[in-house]
Amino acid sequence: MSRLSLTQLRRMKREGTRIACLTAYDAAFATVLDEAGVDVLLVGDSLGMVLQGHDSTLPVTVDDMVYHCANVKRGSRHGLIVADLPSLSYATPERALDSAARLLKEGGAQVVKLEGGAPVLDAVRLLAAHGVPVCAHLGLLPQSVHKVGGYRVQGRGAAGEALLEQARALEAAGADLLVLECVPAALAAQVTQALEIPVIGIGAGAGCDGQVLVLYDMLGITPGKRPSFVHDFMSEAGDVPGAVRAYVQAVKEGRFPGPEHSFD
Ligand code: KIV
Repeated sequence: MSRLSLTQLRRMKREGTRIACLTAYDAAFATVLDEAGVDVLLVGDSLGMVLQGHDSTLPVTVDDMVYHCANVKRGSRHGLIVADLPSLSYATPERALDSAARLLKEGGAQVVKLEGGAPVLDAVRLLAAHGVPVCAHLGLLPQSVHKVGGYRVQGRGAAGEALLEQARALEAAGADLLVLECVPAALAAQVTQALEIPVIGIGAGAGCDGQVLVLYDMLGITPGKRPSFVHDFMSEAGDVPGAVRAYVQAVKEGRFPGPEHSFD
């Protein structure tokens, strides 16, 4: 089976077929996700927290991302591979291009993801001009945790209109996908309808084109308190492949996320 492409994801959006995405960091889990029908494997810099034990994603390096992305690539055959550009590896458009080149050439990523709106527009334009597919990321931006002062819901009130404008600007700059993290469900649905590119939500309600969760969160093995938008699929399924299949099915059928996993 060949890998999913951005063209196919766009068709899924147009046809109303929901996109199931999970994070992956190694070959064994990537194989399980692939066989369970996960459409998009996100090699997230969340690996800094769940694999490396840091209290943020900031220490993650381009070398780390290349290493984990290559492992995910070797373990999978079907899912589209999106890899995070880690913190400050895209502080200028030229650095973004160099970092993306490593993720694509050495890591085997198909798409690179970066966080933010206006400050990254030039980087998105340069990447797009060089044929590098880009996933943008708005809402809660974990790489800016120290600036924002914590992990909390974004885009409430007047900030919602600004977020919608940033999403439009990212699409116009050449972004191919958008992740929306921790924003009110109504705003996420509005952004999803306003854009032609697929929108993948995490803590952003059921109105997005697809959903993503951190794999270890939905397996219930992340230490500490779980975010309220996460459901533990492992406790009902009993094993990892079953939990991942249950997640894919729940996303495809629009049963996850429910209102209890969403924000007003
Ligand atoms: O790094 C990551 O896992 C992510 C998801 C939370 C969207 O960016």
